Parts: sequence; C-alpha cells; structure tokens
Amino acid sequence: MEKKNIDWGNIGFGYIPTEKRFVANYKNGAWEEGGITEDANIVLNECAGVLQYAQTIFEGMKAYTTEDGRTVIFRPDLNAARMVDSAKRLEMPAYPADKFIEAINELVKENEAYVPPYGSGASLYIRPYMFGTNPVIGVKPADEYQFRAFVTPVGPYFKGGAKPLTIKVSDFDRAAPHGTGHIKAGLNYAMSLHAIVTAHAEGYDENMYLDAATRSNVEETGGANFLFITKDNKVVTPKSDSILPSITRRSLLYVAEHYLGLEVEERVVPFEEVKEFTECGLCGTAAVISPVGKVVDHGNEICFPSGMNEMGPVIKKLYDTLTGIQMGHIEAPEGWIYEVK
Ligand code: PLP
Ligand code: COI
Repeated sequence: MEKKNIDWGNIGFGYIPTEKRFVANYKNGAWEEGGITEDANIVLNECAGVLQYAQTIFEGMKAYTTEDGRTVIFRPDLNAARMVDSAKRLEMPAYPADKFIEAINELVKENEAYVPPYGSGASLYIRPYMFGTNPVIGVKPADEYQFRAFVTPVGPYFKGGAKPLTIKVSDFDRAAPHGTGHIKAGLNYAMSLHAIVTAHAEGYDENMYLDAATRSNVEETGGANFLFITKDNKVVTPKSDSILPSITRRSLLYVAEHYLGLEVEERVVPFEEVKEFTECGLCGTAAVISPVGKVVDHGNEICFPSGMNEMGPVIKKLYDTLTGIQMGHIEAPEGWIYEVK
C-alpha cells in the first residue's frame, strides 16, 4: 500500500480529511447495515436532537503501522464498550460492540494510505461518534440516530511534543457528581471550552479540574487523566466517578505493575498531596503520556523535580513501554493489539 505524501514528522493534532468515512443510521428501532461514504458533510433538520439538546457522544482511538508493516489498532474493544456506556447514559441506542469493531476495521482498511509509516512519530486518529438526527423540540431523546466514524493522521496533541507542560488549577468545574463526567459526551467538552480558552490566554497548556463537590481532590484535565509518581516510585492515579475511565490510563497501570514491577494506586488524590509527587503526566489516546513540569494554583507554583526540560525517568519508562507495545516491538498482553485485515 503506497502511503500518502504527507510530512508525517511535522503534523500536529489537526483535521486532515481523507476520502473515506463510515456511516450507519438508526431508524424504526434498528441499526441499518451501514458502509463507507465519501461525503464528509451531514445534512440535518434544524430541530435535530443533537443541535437542540446536544445528544452526541464520541470515541477516540489510534491505528499504527508496526515495525513489521502490519496495521494495528490499540484496544478498540474497550472503546466499543465505553461507547455503549456513553449511549446508555444519554438515552441513545447503543451501536453494537461487534458492529463497532467491524466498522472501524473497514474504515481503517479503506484509509490505509493515511496510516503513518512506522517510526514517523505520527498515527492515525480514529473518531467514531453518534448523534440524534430527527426533530426534537420537547426535551426528550431522539428516535433516529446516525453513527459515523472518520480518521485523520495526527502528530503530538501538545505543541512542544514531549516538552513538559504547565497546568492551571481551574476555577471552573468540568463535571458534577452523578453527572456525565464518566462518559464521552460532547457536552463535557463544550463545558470545558471557556476554561481552556481562558487557560491558554493566560499562558497555560491545560487545566487541572478539581472535584466539583469539595474542590479538594484532583480529577482530570479537559482531555486526559492524571498520573503521578511518588518519591518511592509508586504510580498513583485519581479515582473518581466523574472522570473518564481512560483506556490509556488503565493500560499504563497494567504496564507499570506487570512490565515495570511498580506499585500502583488508584485512589482519591487530595490536591494538597500534589506537591509531594516527583513526576506528573497526562495520559490519553491523544496525549499518549505528556509530561507535566508545573502546576499553578492561583500563583502558587508546584514544580516537579523532573523539571521543565524532559520527561521524568518513571514517566519515560511508562511511555517507552506503552508505545513499544502499540508499535509492536514489545510483546503486548493478550488481546491488546487488533490487527486490521
Ligand atoms: N479524559 C478525558 C476527558 C478525555 O477526553 C480522554 C480522551 O479520550 C481521556 C481522559 C483519555 O482517555 P483514553 O485514554 O481512553 O483516550
Ligand atoms: C482522545 O484522546 O481521544 C480525546 O478524545 C481527547 C481529546 C482532547 C482529543
């Protein structure tokens, strides 16, 4: 398969449209078969449920070219399952997990020329999503839906690549207790836009959200979970019902424990404890693991000993092992790597 002529090493995290995307409609209580389309545009009724009441959910995953030239996707079964959970919470009909995998397989196969070559530093970001399409004016769920998925080749999510980030402790909340923070709903991201624009205008890379009920515990950022390293090299990550259960974070905890022999703790992390940690990172499909050098709380700076120039040693080991598994040069746990065929 001849690859597209793209400067893979210099692309950022943006939308580069490809020719093919997947679409399936839900009508009269059932999902149609669905298939590939070349039309990137969607025509909707003015009163569509998604436009009026934000009934939309999405997923994010990546495909890679391995060292031996295979095209693989990292743990898409977990994205399929999470999308089912998201659908249930927003009263949408779930797109069946087996259909999800089939759709993504076909989509990536059709876009193989856009899967960045091994070693380029880029990957193919896959964005499945679904939304209510029929007119809804009283507040209620739509009856008709569209499931779609497109791909776009991407480089690093944060501009400096592996340069440590500066994070602001936000005055805004991202998710309420018993709300929707644990699912991948568009509304959670709409909520975060003012906070991220504000943080960027003040020179920060991202926000750290605290729990909305007490504002004393660490939650997550707008698009990634936190990992912290203790002085005795334990890997600690916040436990909360209002954060997204990151697939990258779950994978990293497994890697820490089973590949690197580190102790791991998923527990409430009081903000007060952050100054005790030696390293900090943001983890997610887009973020991979992006190191954090500094957290700023209303002028009070917490500077991690790992500094502002490079990843700390433990985060680096986690990064190297996870990306090694994803790119196929470190053996993956059973079922983690899905080969596109
Ligand atoms: N938290 C939020 C709010 C996210 O949007 C994402 C991205 O998907 C993550 C965490 C990381 O999740 P994952 O590792 O499954 O991509
Ligand atoms: C992802 O990592 O897949 C996300 O959806 C996060 C988003 C900020 C791009």
